[in-house]
Amino acid sequence: MINNKIRLSKSSLGIHEQLEVIKALDSEYLGYGSVAKQFEDQLNSFLGTSACVVNSGTSALILALQVANVSFEDIVIVPSLTYLATAQAITALGAIPFFCDVDLNGHLSLDNISEELSHKAKAIITVHYAGVEMEMTEVLKWARKNDIRVIEDAAHSFGSTQYSSSLSKRDFDLVCYSFDGIKNITTAEGGCICAKSSEDQIRLQDIRLLGVKGDSSNRHLNTRTWEPNVTEQGWRAHLSNVNAAIGLAQLNRSSEMWSRRRKIGISYFNKLINLSDQLRPIIPINEGIIPHIYPIIIYNLDLLDNICISFRENFIEYGRHYYPCHKLDYFSKYNKTSLSNTNYIFDHSISLPMHCDLTDKDIDNILNILTREFR
Ligand SMILES: Cc1ncc(COP(=O)(O)O)c(C=O)c1O
Repeated sequence: MINNKIRLSKSSLGIHEQLEVIKALDSEYLGYGSVAKQFEDQLNSFLGTSACVVNSGTSALILALQVANVSFEDIVIVPSLTYLATAQAITALGAIPFFCDVDLNGHLSLDNISEELSHKAKAIITVHYAGVEMEMTEVLKWARKNDIRVIEDAAHSFGSTQYSSSLSKRDFDLVCYSFDGIKNITTAEGGCICAKSSEDQIRLQDIRLLGVKGDSSNRHLNTRTWEPNVTEQGWRAHLSNVNAAIGLAQLNRSSEMWSRRRKIGISYFNKLINLSDQLRPIIPINEGIIPHIYPIIIYNLDLLDNICISFRENFIEYGRHYYPCHKLDYFSKYNKTSLSNTNYIFDHSISLPMHCDLTDKDIDNILNILTREFR
């Protein structure tokens, strides 16, 4: 029966990824080297700015916080409605997360942030929830006024272009992407950070390689420095050539993969938007959005329970994005404010399967089972 299961999310891999990995293995230089540099160069042209590749989206966030000069006991504002990695990155540096609420589309809202907090916080992390980008102009303006650094957790939104075709065409401070196994492109595990300031770009290159000054450029030639100098805390956070090889193939296939994600999003939206006043899809139709997950809100909780039961009976996986960070034991002590929309989205949402290997038959099956519950 396992073969008939419709999966919530999965990587889409094939011969192209296999061939690139074999090439990287054949080169026998497996760490951060020329293949990782090639991937980094391709990301630079895709994003229109300098990208620093690392071994996970979580590392990207930790390094971004460090170059934003966040350290012990500094306050970082972050939505509670995010994957727990966002909050872990803050506490990894000994800093204090201040969990804030979101609007009913899952985006951080400045309305919830008090004047007092805006004077105390060192940084703010926004999350481009589900692949829908948050409009950043207002946050960046507010943050600069208050001398707060802005980190965009764009783990869900690599490739989304709602507000500009590339990062070079819009304002930003620090943007972090994830390339883990189920993301819009994958390197198995991986991520990257884009920094606006060239000073931050240089620091990032060093601290992802244990803080060794200028070692990235040696590694691009598949070598290393034998007279290292270190001036700040660094991390073993670089991306390996093997992981980067997968990324090269994925970038090449990205337009095909993303048009499939968009098409699935359109099929869901068109069927669900007028189905019932008890249901609301969160992701609108927009050419610039690549849906990463597909959360929908079900207002009636009995109905939601029935949908979950029906999905389980029919071997359709579903998700709950996200179990709010402030409810986790480790983070509950940081819960200082009412997070009613966060709680509401968690209680009332269910995420439908979203990945580019879903077939049209899978989508029909999912939608038939879902719509049956509204008759
Ligand atoms: C919103 C968000 N932030 C950060 C991360 C962490 O990325 P990674 O899994 O690559 O460490 C994820 C991964 O799922 C995520 O969904």
